Amino acid sequence: MYDIVKKTKEWKFMKIGIDKLGFFTPDLYVDMAELARTRHEDPNKYLIGIGQAKMAVIPPTQDVVTMAANAAQRILTVDDKEQLDLVIFATESGIDNSKAAAVYVARLLGLKSNIRAFEVKQACYGATAGLQLARDHVALFPRSKVLVIGADIARYGLKTPGEPTQGGGAVALLVSADPQILALDKQSAYQTQDIMDFWRPLGQTEAMVDGKYSSNIYLEFLDHVWQDYQQKTGLKLEDLAAVLFHLPYTKLGLKGIRQLTTGAEPALTLRLTKEFEHARTFNRLVGNLYTGSLYLSLLSLLQQSEQLIAGDRLGLFSYGSGAEAEFYSGILQPDFKAGLMGVDYSQLLANRQQVSVDKYEHLFKQQLFHAATEELDYSNDPARFVLAGVKEYQRQYLEH
Ligand code: COA
Repeated sequence: MYDIVKKTKEWKFMKIGIDKLGFFTPDLYVDMAELARTRHEDPNKYLIGIGQAKMAVIPPTQDVVTMAANAAQRILTVDDKEQLDLVIFATESGIDNSKAAAVYVARLLGLKSNIRAFEVKQACYGATAGLQLARDHVALFPRSKVLVIGADIARYGLKTPGEPTQGGGAVALLVSADPQILALDKQSAYQTQDIMDFWRPLGQTEAMVDGKYSSNIYLEFLDHVWQDYQQKTGLKLEDLAAVLFHLPYTKLGLKGIRQLTTGAEPALTLRLTKEFEHARTFNRLVGNLYTGSLYLSLLSLLQQSEQLIAGDRLGLFSYGSGAEAEFYSGILQPDFKAGLMGVDYSQLLANRQQVSVDKYEHLFKQQLFHAATEELDYSNDPARFVLAGVKEYQRQYLEH
């Protein structure tokens, strides 16, 4: 009896949340102004109307497994690996209908075998589902650490309206007690409704989307969960130092912040809009990474903002078509910069190579989806983990 009371008290006061955050996107991009001109569009439609400046190009030697391993290896130490007992892999562009991408990643990272590793799916909401599950797991087992991954390649197809909102990459979140970056608040607000705004039938390699409908649903869900969050927590907009959004394209987040700040004091609107600009900087340069987009935006805010201090509360709006949304929050911790492990992501993104639209189209068609056996030349891929090909339908991953 005493133990249960003691444990319940411990849980009440224990901080749990994001201890470290890692990100990976391949070293290739296409310039959005050049893509617009090739598609006979005004460059400002992509740069301002959609809010994207560069778009990650994914070579065939990268997929969700390699990108996830490349993101996670940036943050995990030997001690982290020893304490990890759960890997949750969120993706909507997985590489197998049966086997979880988490299992391949666990092997590539050299994790011990007495762990749980599995995949979760609910469009771009998956990583948030993983994060909340990870929080609950650590509440029960405070010494354990959980690796949550959000990795995707966003594909709508060449010359489609969705094309300028493609991209790809992976985020890796290490979740633990006494986190360095963000301690999650317990209360959050969520909503699920069966809606056909975006989906990808089995066997299709490109998403189907009703883009305008989807954007409207996103904003409706934002309104619903934001109202619910305020009711549940008693917190208001002025209690938040910044609000982060799922960013399938950054203009949609801008619509989100405008919606939330309608009728707010001008100084509050200015402050939150400034922080939103910091929070969308990296997403403008990468494009959509589906499940990971919200967490790339968090990374962008942490590296770009000069105003944030320990104790600030951040609000996070997660949305996954289909549709599901959650508004939750967390408190920035004193060592939040240390949780990024000293990686300068601005520099990494600036160092990527630009490819022509022709080259991007060529690489887009090269992704290995259906081949039974094929070898890939990975000598030009500087990433640590690569896909070397497929042998009898088995994907060949290696570290080089
Ligand atoms: N200068 C500045 N802005 C311009 C412009 C120009 N020359 N030309 C157009 N625009 C603006 C439009 O006014 C519009 O802005 P608004 O959204 O504020 O109205 C925006 O650019 C897009 O133009 P639009 O004509 O609506 O583009 P589109 O029909 O090609 O579709 C998307 C745009 C975003 C709907 C489409 O790319 C898409 O479906 N993407 C996928 C969406 C998605 O991921 N959904 C899932 C959400 S989680």
